[in-house]
Formats: sequence, C-alpha cells, structure tokens
Amino acid sequence: MEIRNIQNLDVRGKYILLREDFNVQIVDGQITDAFRINASLPTIKYLSQAGAKVVICSHLGRPKGEKNESLSLRIVAEYMNIPFIDDCLNKDFMSFMQDGDIVLLENLRFYPGEEKNDDDFAKKLASGFDIYVNDGFAVSHRTAASVVGVTKYLPSYAGLLLEKEIKNISLFMENPKRPLVAFVGGGKVSTKIGVLKKLVSIADKIVVGGAMGTTFNFALGMPVGNSLYEENMANVALDILNTAKKHNCEVLLPLDKGVGKSFSKDENRINRDCKEIRDDDVIMDDGEKTIERNKQLLKEVKTVFWNGSFGVTEWGEKWGKASYNFAKNLSEFTKSGDIESVVGGGDTVAVLNDCGVFNNITYVSTGGGAFLEFIEGKELPGISVLIK
Ligand code: 3PG
Repeated sequence: MEIRNIQNLDVRGKYILLREDFNVQIVDGQITDAFRINASLPTIKYLSQAGAKVVICSHLGRPKGEKNESLSLRIVAEYMNIPFIDDCLNKDFMSFMQDGDIVLLENLRFYPGEEKNDDDFAKKLASGFDIYVNDGFAVSHRTAASVVGVTKYLPSYAGLLLEKEIKNISLFMENPKRPLVAFVGGGKVSTKIGVLKKLVSIADKIVVGGAMGTTFNFALGMPVGNSLYEENMANVALDILNTAKKHNCEVLLPLDKGVGKSFSKDENRINRDCKEIRDDDVIMDDGEKTIERNKQLLKEVKTVFWNGSFGVTEWGEKWGKASYNFAKNLSEFTKSGDIESVVGGGDTVAVLNDCGVFNNITYVSTGGGAFLEFIEGKELPGISVLIK
C-alpha cells in the first residue's frame, strides 16, 4: 500500500491542519499515559522545523457533540507547552502565526459534525489551511470529518506516525519470523471475532486468555462458576476453533484461573484448575499453571503478538498477575533478541507501562480499535483516502 507522505513536501510557510489522536487517559486532571502524545512528536517537530505553521486537532473522549469542560484538550496543550485555541472552528489566531509555530485546537467532538462526518463542518474545519496531514493512526478507523471529510477540501498526506504504524504492523502480518504465536486476552470474544479469525489463519499458535478464554472453556463444556463470560458467543468460539484447525493453528486455552467469591479486588485469590471451577467461584485472572505455560511458550517462538489482558489489571498486580508476568517475560525474551514482539491495545499497553517494560517491546502500536481493524484486514477509511 503506497500512501502520500510528507517527505519531500514543501511545507515552508504553509498552514497545516494536523490530525493527531490525543485521546489519552486523564485521571484527576492529570495525563496518566502520554504514549500517544509522545508518539506524535516526530511529525510535529518535522513539520515545524520545515517551516510550516502547524495547527493540531484531535478528539478526546466521547462528548457526543457537546462542549464538556472535563474533556477539554487544554490539559494536553499545557502538557505540550503550546498555545491552545478554545474552539476548533476559530480561525482568527491563524494570521498571527509565524513559520514553525505550533498550536492545539479544542476537542473536535464538541461539534456534532465531527463524528457524523458532516460536509459543512469538514469544509469549515479545512478553511484557511493549505495542507492536511493525518497522523492519528488510532482514529483512522473512524469516518469522521477531521479524518475523512477534510480530505475533500485539502491536499492530504500521512504523517510519520501513521506511516510507521502501517509499515510495522504490515511487516508483522505479511512476513513474520516463525513460529508466530498470538496471545489474545480481554473481556469479549464478540469484539474480537474478526481478529481471532484472521490470527488463526496466520499464526502457528494462538493463546486465548482472560475472560475470552473463559468463554472458550465454557463452549467446550467446562464449568465457569459465577464469572464474566459470553454465553451467546459459545458457537462463535467453536467456529473459531474449527477455523484454526483448518489452518493448522493450535489454540491454547487457560489451564487454571485465579478466582475469588465475588467480583472484588479484596477477595482472597485462590488458584483453581479450569475443570474444577466451582459454582460460586468468580474468575478474575488466569492461573499459575497458565502463567508458566505461557512463559515456556516464549522459549520456542520467534514472533509474538499480544492484545488484551488476562485478568482485572486495573486492580493492580494481585488480579493482573498473569498479564504482569507475561509482560515481564515478553520483555526479557525480546530484550535478549530471541523474539520480536508486537503489542497493541490500551489496557495491554498500560500493563507494559505499569511493569516498566514498554521500551523493550519491538513495536507498540498507538491504536486500540484501529489496531484490531488493521490486523483484521479491514480497510481503514482514514488511510484509504491517502492512498496514491
Ligand atoms: C481510540 O482510543 O481507540 C481512538 O481514539 C478512537 O476513539 P473512539 O473509540 O472514541 O472513536
């Protein structure tokens, strides 16, 4: 796939509308994970140093077309130490910009036209600019005005981050060193059907963990107690197992689980074999044997894909033990050069950060839903409009 990029583009003195994805986690008024912001800096610096007037736009959260102070991007502008424009359709400031200047506009989703890809909103957003650059890989699966609509009005290009994401994920998909093992966790099979089907067609093995693993175990007739799982996804799980068989992909499911008696972080953690889960057990993590099995697997692989946690990682190490252990092991094996690792998804990346191993992973994607859709092989509307 060849897309129009910003290398060799003459941007000096030009007004650039730069779409980033600054949809970052904010807790108590603090940015708790600046990964997406940091990942966007090469493009911002490149354009600024090349003499462009860089106007960044982004969404934050889901304000549903209404102004909502708690979802203002002001905090991101302060974090980046750049001027903030409190209305994304305000153009007054543009005449005061010098070459190389950088500003950030207020949350695009304060206008209903953004998510609806409204043509009038897109036209107003694009007005006054010379060039549009999309660098927000993580939002490129959304048909939004700032992702797709504006490209009707401006010459449009991909930023360095968007290009890097496409290159690295494609490389992993098309030419992985084998054996390739995909580790997939998270809550719901229903949100990852396409990805699972795709992965079983390219991976040598797939490990399904977390609540998804519980759904698969349920489909195979195992007890799941009082746990979170998707009863109505049992047939889909069986279908995925069949598809895997056709592709000679071995599917490995949880062997044991960390359980409590209610869905609470204060519960005592009991380790239980999957076949012996009791009616009043609540599964909250993968268990000790599964953790060890996953570690041993890393010794025989060359490429690892990981998306989705194996337990309730937001409660920390106690119920995130399987994910934390896996992240640390993956980091060690990657660091020693034995394997290449590709990781994506907000909760998974958060685990890497919590364990301090983010920098050891071969490639970490900024995408959540976009990452999954790209893996699945879906056409991302924000990328399609940039193809040469
Ligand atoms: C994401 O976090 O996956 C992107 O920023 C897209 O956000 P959305 O799911 O609210 O469209």
